[in-house]
Amino acid sequence: VKSLTDFELERIYDYPSNLTQPWVQVNFVSSADGAATLNGTSRGLSHPADKRIFRLGRELADVILVGAGTARAEGYRGVTMNEAGKNRRARLGLSPTPPLAIVSGSAEIILDSPAPGDAQPFIITTSQAPQSKRDALTTQGAEILIAGEDRVDLTVALTMLAERGLLRINCEGGPHLFGGLLAEDLVDQLCLTISPLLAGAGAGRIVEGGLIETAQKLDLVSLLHEDGFTMFRYRRKPAKPHIEPVRTAQWKP
Ligand SMILES: NC(=O)c1ccc[n+]([C@@H]2O[C@H](COP(=O)([O-])OP(=O)(O)OC[C@H]3O[C@@H](n4cnc5c(N)ncnc54)[C@H](OP(=O)(O)O)[C@@H]3O)[C@@H](O)[C@H]2O)c1
Repeated sequence: VKSLTDFELERIYDYPSNLTQPWVQVNFVSSADGAATLNGTSRGLSHPADKRIFRLGRELADVILVGAGTARAEGYRGVTMNEAGKNRRARLGLSPTPPLAIVSGSAEIILDSPAPGDAQPFIITTSQAPQSKRDALTTQGAEILIAGEDRVDLTVALTMLAERGLLRINCEGGPHLFGGLLAEDLVDQLCLTISPLLAGAGAGRIVEGGLIETAQKLDLVSLLHEDGFTMFRYRRKPAKPHIEPVRTAQWKP
């Protein structure tokens, strides 16, 4: 990763062009033995190169999708973008800052009101979520999207985002949201960093919850590394019909 310029990384990680429907990239970091957390969060698994790619994922997206469990565990409040990120987004014709979209059945979320110029966050929830919680989030500046009665129908949720012009979906986890997206066959790309660590038993995997009947086949489309951390990018195989498969593999022995 170190040897690549920001522009080269952008070319590797950019979304397919001319999207006409939501395209979902999911990001995770895992230990070599499959743990999705160390002491309850992903922080101890990461590396500056992984963070660089994570940041780039935000800079290239229309919206940052995250589950409420991750938002609570990792202290998500909103998305901020530095000047370089805003410049990149302007060059690519994207809004200055991508909104955060938090999936939550309970609407138990703490948000910071968006800073002036920052995007309004979305809370994607259900009609059964307590009205008082929904009202409190609206007061904090969020837009509430109702995408189901007792659970969020993720296909409906993505359609609601698409109706707002948000097709480049960057999902930052967590494991239950990833399980739900896989169960509804909504994942186009997985960006997975493997950290050179053995975490031992105890922590969960990067996917939990919903079962799928058939394993989804993937193409490895790029592999980068730095300091023993490997960053894989996998795409679903076959791609959804409107997507041209593009190979941008960067093998660095
Ligand atoms: N290693 C990594 O890269 C990585 C990445 C992300 C997260 N994590 C870790 O994963 C852990 C959290 O795991 P998690 O599985 O709880 O995270 P999660 O998937 O982010 O959150 C699960 C919660 O999201 C909401 N949710 C997800 N799908 C829903 C649906 N279809 N309908 C309604 N609500 C839905 C529910 O929220 P409510 O409870 O509000 O109803 C559910 O309890 C944390 O420790 C975090 O640090 C690791």
